[in-house]
Amino acid sequence: MSQTLHPMLNTAVKAARTAGALINRASLDIERVTVTAKSHNDFVTEVDQAAEAAIIETLLGAYPGHGILAEETGRTHGAKDSDYVWIIDPLDGTTNFIHGFPVYAVSIALAFRGQIQQAVVYDPSRNDLFYASKGRGAFLNDKRLRVSKRSRLLESLIGTGFPFRKGDNFKRYLKMFEEVMQHCAGLRRPGAAALDLCYVAAGWYDGFFETGLNPWDIAAGSLIITEAGGLIGNFTGESDFLYQREIVAGNPKIYAQLVSILAPYTRIIKDDEAGATAPAAAAAPDATAAFVASVVADTPPAATAKKAPVRIRKADLAKAKDDDAPF
Ligand code: IPD
Ligand code: CA
Ligand code: CA
Repeated sequence: MSQTLHPMLNTAVKAARTAGALINRASLDIERVTVTAKSHNDFVTEVDQAAEAAIIETLLGAYPGHGILAEETGRTHGAKDSDYVWIIDPLDGTTNFIHGFPVYAVSIALAFRGQIQQAVVYDPSRNDLFYASKGRGAFLNDKRLRVSKRSRLLESLIGTGFPFRKGDNFKRYLKMFEEVMQHCAGLRRPGAAALDLCYVAAGWYDGFFETGLNPWDIAAGSLIITEAGGLIGNFTGESDFLYQREIVAGNPKIYAQLVSILAPYTRIIKDDEAGATAPAAAAAPDATAAFVASVVADTPPAATAKKAPVRIRKADLAKAKDDDAPF
């Protein structure tokens, strides 16, 4: 890396490389790795745990007063009331790792008062380091990243993630899949959300969507996308996405077209929306959503034809859960 990194980003890079070395070593003898199921189809290995411990040790070694939110140990470590919180996925793509499918990564982000300031996603099998500091651009190794320039969804390559856990709403996902599939050039599901987001930042995908993701899957990738000139938000095109379990990202034009398809599938309920029938993207208040509405107004109808939103009100949530087809 040629440029000088922010000291906190430097520490995150060191932590990610340490975890990556550990993951690479374990990948040489994958048969010996002990796998435990956290729940149906949701796995953890001793490698996830060891990588997480190594990351936390490095981060708290440098910043003992900071907080930690980590996939395997939650908020057990670090300060509980710090403005700084490290959000860690020690091994994103565990299912791939267990099978020797080389698409997985370490993801580390630093939030300051809820805003992501530093981000690292490290792909140890390729030795690829994606990183960003707020306001200073996004990089892959030494190369500055920019989202793609493609403006038509019909010509776009889109990434996604399939629901796979017990209780996931598989039927609802299939409807979205069908709609996006029919309006784009191809859909991909490699299996590591943190990398998926970096692929948007690099311009390899033009857009991405998934449901059911946790903050540690997306925190780092979200800053890398916005620093590469992309947009990321919830299905209604608002920037409130970290804890919403629905995410859409892309270059600005493709993001807007994806939001117009996915907005009817949002699970985000607003108190003032009872009985609303207007498309959510047009009604959403923040700047990103306003941008989405303006691009959609400008885009050919085939890609943006709107239906009444598939609104799920609070009262319906319990029922919707019952309707989810467990495997
Ligand atoms: C998973 C991956 C996957 C996504 C899942 C995540 P994990 O993370 O990011 O792409 O579809 O929802 O849980 O469990 O391997 O860290
Ligand atoms: Ca993950
Ligand atoms: Ca993980």
